[in-house]
Amino acid sequence: MRFKRILVTGGAGFIGSAFIRYGLQKMDKIVNVDLLTYAGHEKNMADFIDNPRHTFIRGNICNSILIKRLCQEYQLEAIVHFAAESHVDRSIENPSSFLETNVYGTFALLEVVRALPRIHFHHVSTDEVYGSLENGMFNENSSYQPNSPYAASKAASDHFVRAWGHTYGLSTTISHCTNNYGPYQHDEKFIPHMIRNCLQGEPLPIYGTGINIRDWLFVDDHAEALWMILEKGKSGEVYDIGGETEMRNIDLLHVLIDCLAPRLSQDAQKLRNLITFVKDRPGHDLRYAIDCKKIKDELGWTQRHTLPQGLEKTVAWYLQ
Ligand SMILES: NC(=O)c1ccc[n+]([C@@H]2O[C@H](COP(=O)([O-])OP(=O)(O)OC[C@H]3O[C@@H](n4cnc5c(N)ncnc54)[C@H](O)[C@@H]3O)[C@@H](O)[C@H]2O)c1
Repeated sequence: MRFKRILVTGGAGFIGSAFIRYGLQKMDKIVNVDLLTYAGHEKNMADFIDNPRHTFIRGNICNSILIKRLCQEYQLEAIVHFAAESHVDRSIENPSSFLETNVYGTFALLEVVRALPRIHFHHVSTDEVYGSLENGMFNENSSYQPNSPYAASKAASDHFVRAWGHTYGLSTTISHCTNNYGPYQHDEKFIPHMIRNCLQGEPLPIYGTGINIRDWLFVDDHAEALWMILEKGKSGEVYDIGGETEMRNIDLLHVLIDCLAPRLSQDAQKLRNLITFVKDRPGHDLRYAIDCKKIKDELGWTQRHTLPQGLEKTVAWYLQ
């Protein structure tokens, strides 16, 4: 591995914890800074919290004095930045915390790297910065057209990363990934929310008519892609990561129900009867899809899980 000592932000969240779980054995040290907001949980770190190569610090990424001290004290070589406010619906209700964490927090981290320019900075971003698609797919050259406050805050943070790399000559990479699913995801997100409501016999709310299309990637496949970018990615480059598994929300729910019903010894039709169409999210993007040819060709990454395989693992974990 090119870097042996790294700082991870947001490692008590869904993807950050998967990233640490996946790659900790390759590292001499991972310092994990997470504020433990409503989205971060100590139980997400249970597999590695006592590993001597991992140190957890409860802290805010906006606190650049803390981050700089940790980088110096632990002689860190790279920052992998996951920490964010990540829920689109919350961003519509309360955008200010998205500016604070996603924009100012990223800026504060970049300022630490500007002061310690030997540190590489990888920024974990989202395909939502590109906006909504009718035809074709997004790739690294697509223009930015963020539509939600969440997407706008991630787009802004991407621009800061690019500018800090360009202007100050820092070593940076950015990745944009499609929708992730898997164990440890907060149950405000689509798949865990639907699993919980199926278990409790509660309505399964679907925005609009359920025709919005998302591309789904199992979280460990995202984690592996990020480790490959750290290992082999080129400074200044952007890598788009996708599942190549596009689905309408309503169709995904039917697949999920078919996976859940036998495990719950329930009739799938009974679960389908819980589906409830609710008023659409304002500004709801119709479709996201990523062309991930670049990371496949240049870094040799590929998805390891099909949707049924990933859903099996996900459902088994939630039921446990
Ligand atoms: N979930 C997805 O499908 C997806 C897809 C593409 C990209 N992303 C990006 O991946 C990253 C991680 O997403 P996730 O789904 O794991 O999010 P998450 O909400 O599960 O986790 C975010 C973590 O960041 C922490 N955090 C929030 N504010 C903080 C602050 N000020 N200081 C320190 N820690 C703070 C939280 O406590 C939490 O542990 C985000 O940057 C998100 O934009 C997510």
